[in-house]
Amino acid sequence: MADPKAFVCGFPIAHSRSPMIHNHWLKALGLPGSYERVEVAPETFGTFIAQLRAGAFVGGNVTIPHKEAAFQLVDRRDEAAEAIGAVNTLWMDGETLWGGNTDAYGYAANMDAQAPGWYECEAAVVLGAGGAARAIIHALQTRKVPAIRVVNRTVARAQTLADHFGNGVSAHGEDETDGLLEDAGLVVNTTSLGMKGTPGPVLDLDRLPKTAVISDIVYVPLQTPLLREAKQRGLRTVDGLGMLLHQAVPGFERWFGNRPTVDQALYDLIAADV
Ligand code: ATR
Repeated sequence: MADPKAFVCGFPIAHSRSPMIHNHWLKALGLPGSYERVEVAPETFGTFIAQLRAGAFVGGNVTIPHKEAAFQLVDRRDEAAEAIGAVNTLWMDGETLWGGNTDAYGYAANMDAQAPGWYECEAAVVLGAGGAARAIIHALQTRKVPAIRVVNRTVARAQTLADHFGNGVSAHGEDETDGLLEDAGLVVNTTSLGMKGTPGPVLDLDRLPKTAVISDIVYVPLQTPLLREAKQRGLRTVDGLGMLLHQAVPGFERWFGNRPTVDQALYDLIAADV
């Protein structure tokens, strides 16, 4: 049998760090196989999926702008993909094309590693209401965080998420943020604020309990303005790179048959590239 081939497909795709992660694991575990970048424009995504079904690959990752199209095109979806409404991981099981979403797993696994007990709080504040927020809300619901307060510039998008996820999720405008912090044990930034030298989200960190954990899913730079300010106040912080590394674990295991580990060497390798 030919060596297993996997892919990451997006448009554009040049900046994806996934090949570095998976090729590091293939080498570290001494496994045969490859993982490559494939640039696929939206209009040819269907053709690409047909090639996958025909056996060109064992599976792969899909990223922007294909996550919702992949959701529609697969035969079966895992529970996380159903809840989040997007697919980031594909694999063939016989003739069946499966779509999963590993972002919520990646977030929770990284938080478990960096801030044990992170979900044992009365309330969490999620900044942002895009695709990334959906994965974070699912992770928080899986870990039974009782109140999840979604704050967004466009409050209607936050309301859409509150309606979709129900079960303790509420929607808020940016002007309400500071009033939501007093009993919040967890803050997650899922917006692009703070990315690549831009200012971070505005919130009064002094209102948070001293035990609060602040996490950012932005990882360029690793120390975002939000994380820097939180650190200065002695709050626990978790950067976004670990989520990227952990979300890659389930896909690798499906395609190549071994469960890889996220260790400091991998973190340092990717951190040097951001
Ligand atoms: P993703 O899939 O990465 O979550 P997205 O769907 O584009 O990306 O969502 C980006 C999030 O960042 C949104 O919550 C967006 O707020 P809006 O829904 O109001 O657009 C938020 N965001 C981006 N730029 C922002 C800014 N300058 N101020 C406040 N929020 C911003």
